[in-house]
Amino acid sequence: MRYGHFDDKRREYVISRPDTPLPWINYLGCEDYFGIISHTAGGYSFYRDARLRRLTRYRYNNVPFDTGGRYIYLRDNVDGSFWSPSWQPTRHAVEDYSCRHGMGYSIIGSTFHHIKAETLYFVPLGENLEIWRLLITNLRRKPARLSVFSCIEFCLWDAQDDATNFQRNFSTGEVEIDRGVIYHKTEYRERRNHFAYFACSVKPAGYDTQRDTFLGPYRNWDRPVVVERGRSANSRAHGWAPIGSHHVRVNLKAGEIREIVFVLGYHENSDDRKFTRAGSQTINKVTVKPTIARYLKHNAVERAYTELGRHWDRLLGVYQAKTPDRHTDRMINIWNAYQCMATFNMSRSASFYESGIGRGLGFRDSNQDLLGFVQMVPERARERILDLAATQLVTGGAYHQYQPLTKRGNNDIGSNFNDDPLWLVLGVAAYLKETGDWAILDEPVPYDNQPGSARPLYEHLERSIQYTLDRLGPHGLPLIGRADWNDCLNLNCFSDTPGQSFQTTTNKDGKTAESVFIGGMFVLAANELAAIAGRRGSEINAQGYREAALKMSATVGTSGWDGAWFLRAYDDFGNKVGSNECVEGKIFIEPQGFCIIAGIGLENGRAGMALDSVNRHLATTHGIMLQQPAFSQYYLHLGEISSYPPGYKENAGIFCHNNPWIMIAETMVGHGDRAFDYYRLINPSAREKLVALHRCEPYVYAQMIAGKDAPTHGEAKNSWLTGTAAWNYVAITQHILGIRPTYEGLMVAPVIPAAWKGFSAIRMFKGVRYNILVKRRGRGNKVHLSVEGRKVDGNVIPPPPRGTTTVAVVAVLD
Ligand code: GLC
Ligand code: GLC
Repeated sequence: MRYGHFDDKRREYVISRPDTPLPWINYLGCEDYFGIISHTAGGYSFYRDARLRRLTRYRYNNVPFDTGGRYIYLRDNVDGSFWSPSWQPTRHAVEDYSCRHGMGYSIIGSTFHHIKAETLYFVPLGENLEIWRLLITNLRRKPARLSVFSCIEFCLWDAQDDATNFQRNFSTGEVEIDRGVIYHKTEYRERRNHFAYFACSVKPAGYDTQRDTFLGPYRNWDRPVVVERGRSANSRAHGWAPIGSHHVRVNLKAGEIREIVFVLGYHENSDDRKFTRAGSQTINKVTVKPTIARYLKHNAVERAYTELGRHWDRLLGVYQAKTPDRHTDRMINIWNAYQCMATFNMSRSASFYESGIGRGLGFRDSNQDLLGFVQMVPERARERILDLAATQLVTGGAYHQYQPLTKRGNNDIGSNFNDDPLWLVLGVAAYLKETGDWAILDEPVPYDNQPGSARPLYEHLERSIQYTLDRLGPHGLPLIGRADWNDCLNLNCFSDTPGQSFQTTTNKDGKTAESVFIGGMFVLAANELAAIAGRRGSEINAQGYREAALKMSATVGTSGWDGAWFLRAYDDFGNKVGSNECVEGKIFIEPQGFCIIAGIGLENGRAGMALDSVNRHLATTHGIMLQQPAFSQYYLHLGEISSYPPGYKENAGIFCHNNPWIMIAETMVGHGDRAFDYYRLINPSAREKLVALHRCEPYVYAQMIAGKDAPTHGEAKNSWLTGTAAWNYVAITQHILGIRPTYEGLMVAPVIPAAWKGFSAIRMFKGVRYNILVKRRGRGNKVHLSVEGRKVDGNVIPPPPRGTTTVAVVAVLD
C-alpha cells in the first residue's frame, strides 16, 4: 500500500490518496500566526498561543479524527451536485487527489466531474494571516456554472473555555459583516482588543456566519443545507456558533481557469482605537483594511509565496549533505531540519496528539529543541534562551513549562523535575558554540520574571549546576525530584488514587530516590560550564566545575554501575531501578546514552559494555526500546511508567527521542556501522515502505514506536512535536557525519559506516560557507584534514581570515 511519495526537488511530500491511516499534517506559519493543516485541509489556526488565542475551532475526540478545517465546497449549479476538492468533508470519490505538503505551505486538490480545483495554503512572512489561493479549471468541453462556498468555524479564543463553557459561550458570539468581509469579534466588546477576519477576493453573492443556519438541523459538515441549496442564507451569528462562509458564483468557459483568494487573519487594535467612535460597538477597521486589500491581490500573494520559498532556501542552506543514502540526505536536507523548526515554534503545544490546550513551551523540551534549530535561526535561539532563563526560579529550579503568550512559567503540568535546570546549560553551550556570542552571558535576566531580580545569564547557569549539588541523595547521586528526563519515572509519587496526575502528586519527602541519568547529565553540563567559565577568564570557576564533574563521574562509577550497564536510579526505599537484580525494568536506555555522552566509561571499557548490553537487550528491528523487561503491572513506587500497557510509551516503547543518544554514544566508541544502523531503523523516510504498520507521516519523526511487548510492535504514535527531531538531527549531522561547531572552529570528525566511500556536505558557520568533502581511505575514523589544500593538524578547521566567504575542506578517513 502506498499513500504518496517524496518529491525532493520541490521539497515536498505528495500524498496521493486521502484515506491515510492517520491525518498526515503540516504546519503553516513561522513567526506569530500558525496553523495545523492536514492533508484533507483539516486543522486549525491560532495566534502565538494555541490555547489562549485560537482562531478556528477544533473538536477533540472527533470522528473521524480529522474533521473541521479550512473547507471549500464546489457546487455544480446545473445539476446541483456538490463536493470538496480536499476530499473532506464530503468524501466524494474525487479523481487525481493530491496533497503536497511543502516547507510552510500545502497544496491540496483534485478533479471531479471534469472540474479541477486546487488550493494553496500558506502564511506570508511577517503577517498574521493565512492565504488560501483557490484555482478552478474547467476541463469540460462546455461552460460550467459553479458555486464556491468557503467555510471555517470560529473558536471563541480560549480553546479550553471554548470546549467546555457552553452556558456562557452560546450567548457571547458576535460578528460583523462589512463589504463581504466577515469579522469575528466575540468578547471584543469587553476586554479583548483583537478580532479575526475572513475575506474573499471576489465580491460574494452571499455569506453565512451562524453554523446551524449553514448546516441545517441534524446535518454534518458533509451536507450543509446552504451548499445543497446553492445559496447562502446571509445569516448573522448572535451567540451559538459563529462561522465564516462566503458564497461565490463562478461561470467558466471551456478550459477557463479562475483564481479566488481567501484571507483569514488576526488583528489587534490599540485599546483607545477599538471602535469607530465613542459610544460605538463597531470595530475600527482603519488599520486592518489595507492588509486585507493587499493580500486579496494576485501579485502580492505570488510575491509572498516566492518569499516564503527563499526563506526556506536560507534556513535549509545552513547544512546540506550528499551521502550514499537517500533517506539520510532527505532527512538532513529537508524534513528533519523542517521538523526542528516546527518544534521550535510549537514546543509540545499543538499537533494532532498535543491538544494545544494542555502544554505550553516546556523548559526541558525547548532547551533540547534548540540543539536542532540554533544553526538556522541563531537570533531567535537567543531570544528563546533569555525567555526560558527568565522563568527560572531563584533556587536554580525551573517551572516545567511556560505559556508563549505571557512568557510566564506555571505549575500546571508539575514542577521539581530535577533535570530541568541542567538543560539550560546544554542549550546555552550549543548557542555559544554556534554563534560565539559571548555577550549573551552578560544579559541581565530576571528570576521567575520578577522585576528587580535580574542577574547575568551566566549566573543562571551557575545556579542550574548548584541546584543539583544542593540536592544529592544517600549515594551522592542527584535526587530525582518529581522525575528526570523520563517524566513517567515518578519515584516520589506513590499515587493510588484514580485519575490523579503523576506530575503533580507527591507523597514522599524526596530525600532518597536518586537518578543516575541526572548524574550523567550533570557531568556533561558541569564540564560545559567549566569550558564556558574558562573562556570567560575565570580559571578558578572552571576548575571548580571540572572537579564537581569528576567527583560525580566517580560517584556514578561506584554507585551507578550494575556490572554490564549503568543503573537507572535508586527508588524511595533505596532499592535499585534498572538493575539485573530487578525482576522487570532491568536495563534502561537513558543512563547508557547520557553517561557515555558525558564521557563516563570511555576509559575503562564500560561504555562499550553498556552499549553491547543495549544492543543485546533493547534493540529491535524498529528501534531501541526504553527498557526491558516491560513492566507487566502497576508499581506504586515507580509511578506513571508502569501505568502504560507493556510496549507503549515509556513502558518499553521505542521512545525515539533517546535512540540518538545511543547513536552518539556509539560514535564515541568508534562504531560507525552500529550508530548508522540505529539511525536507519527509525528514519521516517526509510520506514515509508512499512507504512501499513508505521501509520504516521513518513516525513517526520514520531515520539514513539510501539516496542516488542506491544501487540502493534512497529506502530508509530505522536508525530511531529518531540525531542526526537532535534536529537536525531544532532546525531546524524554532528556525530555520524561529524561536522560540529566547537569554540575553536568547525570540527570534522565523521564516524560513518565502513562501507561508505565518503560524503560531501555544505555547512554555513559564522557567515562562512564550508564545502566539505570526506573520503574514506582505510576503515577507521582517523581524520586527515586539509583546508584550502593545506594540511591541518587535528580535526578542527581554524577560523579563516576575516572576509573569507568560502572554505574548501577535505577530510580523509583512515
Ligand atoms: C515527552 C516529554 C519530554 C520527556 C519525554 C519522556 O517527550 O515532552 O519532556 O522528556 O516525554 O518522558
Ligand atoms: C511526557 C510523557 C507522557 C506523560 C507526560 C506528562 O509527555 O511522554 O507519557 O504523560 O509527559 O506530562
